[in-house]
Amino acid sequence: MRLPTHLFLHLSILSSLVSGHARIRRPKPLGAPVENPSGNFYNAPLDHLGSEFPCKNLHLKADIDKAPTQVWQAGQVGMFEILGHVTAGEGALAAHSGGSCQASISFDNGTTWKVLHSYHGGCPRDVPLFSNMAGKNQTFTFLVPKDAKAGIALFAWTWIAVTGQRDEYYMNCASVSITGRGTSTLDSYPDMFVGDMDLPGHISAGECRSTAGTALLFPNPGPSSRITETADPKIPFKKPTPGKCFPPGKPGPVPVPVPRGNPPADAEIGAVMTPAENIVYVEEYDCGG
Ligand SMILES: *[C@@H]1O[C@H](CO)[C@@H](O)[C@H](O)[C@H]1NC(C)=O
Ligand SMILES: *[C@@H]1O[C@H](CO)[C@@H](O)[C@H](O)[C@H]1NC(C)=O
Repeated sequence: MRLPTHLFLHLSILSSLVSGHARIRRPKPLGAPVENPSGNFYNAPLDHLGSEFPCKNLHLKADIDKAPTQVWQAGQVGMFEILGHVTAGEGALAAHSGGSCQASISFDNGTTWKVLHSYHGGCPRDVPLFSNMAGKNQTFTFLVPKDAKAGIALFAWTWIAVTGQRDEYYMNCASVSITGRGTSTLDSYPDMFVGDMDLPGHISAGECRSTAGTALLFPNPGPSSRITETADPKIPFKKPTPGKCFPPGKPGPVPVPVPRGNPPADAEIGAVMTPAENIVYVEEYDCGG
């Protein structure tokens, strides 16, 4: 039986409205269109088979302007801002009950990604369960490490939504300039979480998947992380399914030799779940207004 054309059209419009869409506006991501034209291709997730990881490949495209759009002083606060719920087109945010996100940085043009800050829940901020509307303030801060290598780097905002399809991994990248005297590529920092997407030969179906209706707890968030008690307490927190939930292209951190008798510290970062008790959380209560 064929569906009547008008019904089919209606369903496809509806599904485009309810699919998750979000992006950052600051720092201006690579290849981002001006805000508010028609169409909203830019705020879609990466291809779920991994072909667009990382950065929708925009960092590799010749016709994309890679000049830094943001200067951050090492040792000071950096920030990103999620594009709020404006109107239609590029201004439209489908907040999908909020989610969890990370601010990460790459000093090797997208091969290795190190987490500067993990936001468990409340990203975007102030979104009730089953709502696509977010609060007005979508500015998030983090510390740019004092020893971060000076020069041009790639910043990434990655997002896992609370509701919607489980094959949606969002990633926006921006070219940034770090000032200061730092020389560190932050190798001891945790690897950025990658999941809800296949990465051939690295992350397979069912691995590194979040659970719909929950805010993701990053398995390896790093010490600089916070849990946001979301506006809606009906959204619980949950870790992803196991897997190598970090970018391929590198073997993972080399275990640091430790004196006998002590357990290896973070020997398999990213491959194993970090016990929640080891994570330093800053409690933050968002009261929805
Ligand atoms: C990253 O790689 C692309 C493609 O080779 C190149 O155009 C770009 O300049 C590189 N960026 C940096 C910061 O090295
Ligand atoms: C937005 O929220 C952040 C985090 O709570 C806060 O630091 C900042 O001052 C807020 N900005 C505005 C304009 O309210």
